[in-house]
Parts: sequence; structure tokens; C-alpha cells
Amino acid sequence: MTKLWGGRFTKPTNKLVEEYTSSIHFDQKLALQDIEGSIAHVEMLGACDIIQSNEVMEIKEGLLTIKEKVKKGDVTFSVEHEDIHMNIEKLLIDEIGPVGGKLHTGRSRNDQVATDMHLYLREKTKGLMELVEAVQSSLVEQAEQHVETILPGYTHLQRAQPVSFGHHLMAYFWMFERDKERLQDSLKRINWSPLGAAALAGTPYPIDRQMTSDALGFDQPYPNSLDAVSDRDFILEFLSISSIMITHISRLSEELILWGSQEFQFVELDDAFCTGSSIMPQKKNPDVPELLRGKTGRIYGHLMGLLTLLKGLPLAYNKDMQEDKEGMFDTVETLEGALSLLAPMLASMQVKGDQMKHAVNEDYSNATDIADYLAVKGMPFREAHEVIGKIVLYSIQQKKYLLDLTLEEYQDFSPLFEADIYEKLNPNQVVAARNSEGGTGFDQVHKQIQLAKEHLS
Ligand code: ARG
Repeated sequence: MTKLWGGRFTKPTNKLVEEYTSSIHFDQKLALQDIEGSIAHVEMLGACDIIQSNEVMEIKEGLLTIKEKVKKGDVTFSVEHEDIHMNIEKLLIDEIGPVGGKLHTGRSRNDQVATDMHLYLREKTKGLMELVEAVQSSLVEQAEQHVETILPGYTHLQRAQPVSFGHHLMAYFWMFERDKERLQDSLKRINWSPLGAAALAGTPYPIDRQMTSDALGFDQPYPNSLDAVSDRDFILEFLSISSIMITHISRLSEELILWGSQEFQFVELDDAFCTGSSIMPQKKNPDVPELLRGKTGRIYGHLMGLLTLLKGLPLAYNKDMQEDKEGMFDTVETLEGALSLLAPMLASMQVKGDQMKHAVNEDYSNATDIADYLAVKGMPFREAHEVIGKIVLYSIQQKKYLLDLTLEEYQDFSPLFEADIYEKLNPNQVVAARNSEGGTGFDQVHKQIQLAKEHLS
């Protein structure tokens, strides 16, 4: 088969080389973006009198026909034509004849591929933002029902202070809120148009880059043609944002797995989101959060891969850059899958408030509050800390919890203790009291949920 670039060659390409250098098996995902870019380009060529208006019409119609066929899955792409750009150009020439060959006037695959990827990532970024919102909505919904559900809060995975379960869930809401903001902010940089940078240096044709930029909905053309075709920082940024987001997803998943274990029994995932064991009949496994946690590796890998790919490349285009796509596609698809599952899984999760409460009643996580009690009565906090440390040690030795000690026992440690200590130690009161801004106090959590809803609407 003759190559679109075959003129200066005397031999056919080695078959292995053809296979090895071809990207059509993955870049066909860019088919629609490629056609969209080509339509903008050809209309501009016509408007600038670089080709004739009847030629524009023919090319445009040809491209639209191919677009329909692509949508129906009615085209065959071939390795001989290397990548999506040349495959579509070949399909166009087959469809409308030699005039199709005028499409590539004043452009190169180098600005073309960069344009396609900008269009692809812009659309996907917006889609991901919506999927993040769905996860956030599930979190708010659950949080709202569990403002007053209390569970142990942990540091070092040791019980620390009791917190509202709604508060705990809302922590993830804000992480996802920042992820969404980062995606939004990245759109500013995704939204520049590389089209018209041509191979690397621009073109002698009197093209109008502003026109194609506008037609494709970009904010402006890249001001430097070398930059436009050489950098992939918009993908790096996407992969960085995605890495941060999958970290959040992974931590949340880890908690769901822990909470669902026999040891915690704080939540139970819906049967529809769990799987069984082929040998152990009793098992109900949290495969989904485990996989979400596991997907982290591939996204970090794609970020590292692209950073490494780019670090030593001289300007401008190098074939190495063809390797920029699969990681990007895989990251988009991995996140789409993760977020789509996370939203309904969270919404359908059963929260075992009794079990959480039971845990809170069997720990020493109200110890800080006794220290605060003494501090309020005038004892320096550091000294109070020491006294309560001794009380905790005593209680552990007596196999008692702090609420079980008698007032006399308390008074043996300090005469400042009075009967009101018991009310202060009640877990509900312990949580409610933390009413500082952004704290776990119920009023604060309600306020936070209100604010979150404003962010969502
Ligand atoms: N398939 C190529 C890629 O994805 C398109 C650009 C090819 N340009 C070139 N000069 N060979 O990078």
C-alpha cells in the first residue's frame, strides 16, 4: 500500500517497523477530535483563500461522512496508515478523490495530534468533574444522615477522640472539592490551540490561527509554534491531578475496607457492590474498594512515565511523544470507572451507628476532655495531662473505663473533680463540645454541610 509520505522512499517499509511505529490501535480514540480539528482547519483554509470554497465543501462533506461512519463503527483503520491522522486522511481521499489531499495544506501531524489531545482532554476533564460531583453528593447525603452518629476518631490508627461520622465523611467531600477545582483550573491551560503551529515553525500560508482557535472553542492560540508542538504539560498536569485524586479515592477505599471488617463492623457495603469467595461460603469481600485502592499504582505509573518520557527530549516533536497517549487514555478511563462506582457504593452503604457507639463506649478517647476539665478549673494543661495519664493507667489496671470511676476515685487524683465531670465525659457531649470552626461539634458539621451544598449547586 502506498504511504501518504512515500515519495522520497525507494523501498516498502519493513513490516515489523510498520507494526512497531503504528499507533492506530490506540489513537483511534481520537477519531472524532481529529475530524473536528480538520473541519475547523479546512474552513479556515477556505476563509483565507488558501483553497477554493467548493473544495472546502467537498472536504467538509467527506469528513462528515467519515464521522458518521466512525460513530457507527463502520470504518476499518489500518496499520499501513500508521496513525489516526493519516488513516482519516486516507479515508477522505478514498471518499472524495484527490481533492481530499488539500486538507493537509498548512498543517502537520504535529500540531494536529496536539490539537486532538487538547480537545479530548478538555471534554474528558469536564466529564470527570461531573463524576466527582456525584461522589460528593453521595458523601453529603450520608453525612447529613449521620451528623450525630459517633465513632472513634483515630490518629496512628489508635483511638484518639470521638468524632461525628458525618464529619469524617465530609473530610473526603473537601478533598474531592479541591480535586474538582484543580480540574477546573487546568482547563485554562488545556484550552490553548496548537493548530497552525504546523510541524514546528509555523507555515508560509496566510493562515488564521485565531479563527481555528475560536472555531474549536479554545481561548487563544499558543503564542509559540515550537512550544505548541513540543510540550505535553497539559497532560502532565492532568496526570498529577489524577494522581492526587486517586490518592483520595484510595484512602477512602482503605477506610471502607477496614470499617467493613469483622474487627470494626462500622459499615456494611451493599451486596450489589461486593463479591464472594470460590471456596469460603461465608465470605463477602470488598473487591470494589480494594480495586479502587489498587488502581492507584497505574495512575502514578502513568505520571512517572510521561515525566520520564519528556525530560530529555530536545525541541520540537520526537516520535517518543507518541507514547504520551495510552497513559492519558488509561488514566481517564480508570478514573471514570472509579468515580462511577464510588458514588452509588457510598450512597448504598449501610452505616452501623450502634456498633460505632459501642466502640466509643469502650475506649479512653474522652481522656482529653478530662484534661480540659481540669485546665478550665485552673490547672495548667501540661500538669492536667500528667494527672489524667495516671488516671488512664489506673483505669486500665482496674479494667474500667473513665465513665466507670467513682467521684471518690477521681478526687484521689485531684480535689478539683466534682460531680459534673460525668456529663463532660459523655461521648455525645465530648463531640458536641468541639464547636470550634471546622470542628466535629454537631453545629459545625451542620454548617459545613450547608456550605458544601452551596458548592454543589
Ligand atoms: N502518531 C503521531 C503521535 O502520536 C502523530 C505525530 C506524528 N508526527 C511525526 N512527525 N511523525 O505522536
